[in-house]
Amino acid sequence: MSGKRTVLVSGGAGYIGSHTAVELINAGYNVVIIDNLSNSESDSVTGVEQITGKKVDFEVVDTCNTERLKQVFDRYEFDSVIHFAAYKAVGESMAEPLKYYQNNLVSFMNIVSLMKEYGRPNILFSSSATVYGDAEHLPVTEDTPRQPATSPYGNTKQIAEDILRDCCRAYAGVNGIALRYFNPIGAHPSALIGELPRGVPNNLVPFITQTAAGIRECLSVFGNDYDTPDGTCLRDYIDVVDLAKAHVAAVDRMTAGKMEENYEIFNIGTGRPVSVLELLTTFEKVNDLKLPYRMTDRRPGDVPAVWAETSRANEVLGWKAEKTLEETLRSAWEWEKKVRNIK
Ligand code: UFG
Repeated sequence: MSGKRTVLVSGGAGYIGSHTAVELINAGYNVVIIDNLSNSESDSVTGVEQITGKKVDFEVVDTCNTERLKQVFDRYEFDSVIHFAAYKAVGESMAEPLKYYQNNLVSFMNIVSLMKEYGRPNILFSSSATVYGDAEHLPVTEDTPRQPATSPYGNTKQIAEDILRDCCRAYAGVNGIALRYFNPIGAHPSALIGELPRGVPNNLVPFITQTAAGIRECLSVFGNDYDTPDGTCLRDYIDVVDLAKAHVAAVDRMTAGKMEENYEIFNIGTGRPVSVLELLTTFEKVNDLKLPYRMTDRRPGDVPAVWAETSRANEVLGWKAEKTLEETLRSAWEWEKKVRNIK
């Protein structure tokens, strides 16, 4: 396809960024990836190239470094940016709040101000369901009031949303979309890219796959006394390839000039609540293995349940989650096996 435009993907060597780069290229966009590799490997850019058969422009750039970022704006003619580059560990953000505010907000403000300065209109921001906190009514819609953030990480998502909203309001020619992700899981079906957390994983699915691989002894299920059908927490687990496609739909909407307001928000989830126990038994079933697990205390800060009302994304973006939980959990295990060299 010719005539499609170029998209700058910050944090494009990361988990969601690399999957999004693949889907953008599949949809005919040119992609420029920048990443400081602080929590990712350049191998994932190679993976993107192998999957798509296209060479990708990739530069090691820290988005907090304004001068380096300017060089990228001078060098490439993109009209949209997807800003993934950010720290994302909730616990670490409690211990090192400044690291999170500094990195996540300075990098985002750099991106927004250069987009404005260079007249590049479209900004897509990676937000999170964390902004809803412990919501009173479920599922949450985009109009569900945000709750005060319970971690500096969550606060950076709320503040960045506000920065984008205010800039879209104030500056003609700046358009923004915030996608609020629920729980991204799984890997590309090729097993060439996937999630590769450094150290002990915080999130459920990487902990499960590492336990299945024998790297972790036992999975702790954090709490089975919640007011939910089986007592464990409910979340909305969204396949990373489906999530990547939501970004393409959002960029399509921005570049086609179809936005009704110049700042829009979309929930990106499946709309289906899944408990921790359902997820782990499904993982065992589809991959034909047994996971050692035990019930432990609740993890401080966890909300009992959150899942998405997705009709806005379905109707306005024309996007819908397609993968089944079974497919997604198979892809997660295939990726872990590939990384660990397990036959
Ligand atoms: N869980 C376990 N054992 C584990 C890890 C997680 O039982 O070893 C449980 C958690 O208690 C929770 C569920 O699995 O009920 C999902 O936990 P994750 O850590 O995978 O995901 P969270 O819902 O806590 O976090 C996600 C994102 C964050 C975001 C947060 C709030 O990873 O970026 O949602 O929306 F801030």
